This record gives sequence, C-alpha cells and structure tokens, in this order.
Amino acid sequence: MKPKIFVTDATFPEIIDYLSQSLEVEHNQSDQPYSEIELINKLHDKAGVFAHSTRRFSAELFAACHQLRAVCNMAVGYNNIDVEAASAAGVMVTNTPDVLNETTADFGWALMMAAARRVTESEHFLRAGRWTRWRFDDFLGVDVHGSTLGIIGMGRIGQAIARRAAGFNMSVVYHNRSRLTPALETAANHARYLSLEECLRTADHIILALPYSAQSHHLIGKAQLAMMKPTATLVNIARGGIVDDAALITALESGTIAAAGIDVFENEPSFNPAFLSLSNVVLTPHIGSASTSTRLAMAYCAADNLIAAMTGKRPPNLLNPEYL
Ligand code: GLV
Repeated sequence: MKPKIFVTDATFPEIIDYLSQSLEVEHNQSDQPYSEIELINKLHDKAGVFAHSTRRFSAELFAACHQLRAVCNMAVGYNNIDVEAASAAGVMVTNTPDVLNETTADFGWALMMAAARRVTESEHFLRAGRWTRWRFDDFLGVDVHGSTLGIIGMGRIGQAIARRAAGFNMSVVYHNRSRLTPALETAANHARYLSLEECLRTADHIILALPYSAQSHHLIGKAQLAMMKPTATLVNIARGGIVDDAALITALESGTIAAAGIDVFENEPSFNPAFLSLSNVVLTPHIGSASTSTRLAMAYCAADNLIAAMTGKRPPNLLNPEYL
C-alpha cells in the first residue's frame, strides 16, 4: 500500500502526477482555504504533507495528527512550522534551499531598482494620463550604480544579491549573525562585514535577506530606519514581521528614508492599508521566487523530500535530524 499524503494547496499538475507514482495523494487543487481544524481533519490519516509556507503547522496540529511523519515545505523559509514541536512528535521537516537563490536575488534587485528609480510611481502617473510634457525634474530618483549596497542576512540569497553588485560598480557591506569566511566575502563582491547599525548608516540601499525568527522580529523599526540615509531605499524580500510595517510607513511618509520595495508583509496576504496611499513604495505580493522554472524546481524539490521521507530514505533537505 502506498503511503497517504496531502497537498495543502493548488500546485503544478505534473507535481501531483509525480507524487502519485509513489504515494497515495489527496490534494487541494481547488485551492480551498482550510482552518487549522479542517487541516487537522485532512491530515489525521496522512503520513506526509506537501505544504505551502502559508499553512501553519503548530504544536496542536502535531499533537492531533498521529500518523504524520513528514512536513515538506515548498519554500526555503519555514517559520510557518513549529520545528521543535515537529521533532518532539517525531515528524521530519524539510524546505527547498538553493533552487531559488538566483531568482530571488534577481527580484531583490528588481525592487531596489524600481524603488530607487521610481519605476512604478512614474508608470502610475503615465497610465493615469497625467504625462503632458517632458520635465527636467520628473521623477528624479537615486542612483544605484556606484553606490553602497547593504545586505542584512548574508546566506546564499544574500551572497547572490552581492555578486550582482559587481556589474553596477557598487561596494557591498553586510550584516549577518556570523561573519563569512574571507573566501566567501571575496566571492560576494568583496563584501565588508559591519554591525547592523553601521550597515544601516553606511548603505545607500539596503536589502533584507534573512530568515524570520523571534530574534529578527521587528529588527527594522523606528530606531533603525532613523539610522538610514534620507536618500536610502529599503527592500524586504525576506519575511513579513522583520520590518515593523507601521514604522516603515511613518518613515516613508516623513522622508526619513526615500523609498522602499516590499514583497512581504506583516499578516500577509492582509497588509497595512496605509501602504496604498504612499507613492514611494513598490508593493508586490510575495513573488520573490516566482519564475516558472524556479517555482517548478521548488515544487520538485519538496516532492523529492516527501517521497524520500515516505520511502524510508533521508530527505535531502531535512531540517531536524533530531526528529528521531
Ligand atoms: C519564499 O518566501 C520562500 O521562503 O521560499
């Protein structure tokens, strides 16, 4: 008998076919939203789950789902899963690292460029039919080339962001929980390690690429925004909650910083509606990894982790080897 698994949300049809070769698959291709209780009911007889990072896996869920042996997230971030509770319940947890590094780094750059050069703001102006003549001072922005890029969170995505800075003749400063080796710093466009405060004060553009945790909750708030240059841009492609969104809105309104590019929000898909009245912020709906080939690679990566877990092998991206 094939192990029973559940796919929490709509995914590529080829992934359902791929999983079905080795597993008995129940799926939610209709993309129906489930409450935690409904998800628990779906999972009570399942050995594994292919999950999106929008689904919460709490200690209560692990306590209620006795058959569950693996939660395989289709995301590199896994703050939606209580990993400690999963380990205590003997459940493997996996994520999808690496396959999205370059695509997500591209998107960090897209938001930085768009925010610094006022791309969406000027497009809205044009679309609204307000462009009647060329003016010398229309939508003056801040240069990206030749400036200093600050990266907070210098994991694999942060390093991919840093490498791109060479083409723009930028210097790179970074802050991370731990300093990179000299070889990795050199490969990351000779990135210079600074304290968080020094990084915020020095950079012309800041990109956040760190995981969310209790320690990184509101890492960027009023005090940190005040340390940034008034011409600076802030980009968040990491997770909602790392930035205090209300403080950011105030900073953008009052000119504490020039602009922002925000792909992730506190309480998403809800977000603070005050963002919508600001012209100096580029807003996108959590699409950092959203290229067709990368999302497919993430889905296959999550599927391979789940198939391994369900067939007695060690999943390639096991996050909690202590689950045993
Ligand atoms: C996306 O946000 C991810 O964590 O992969």
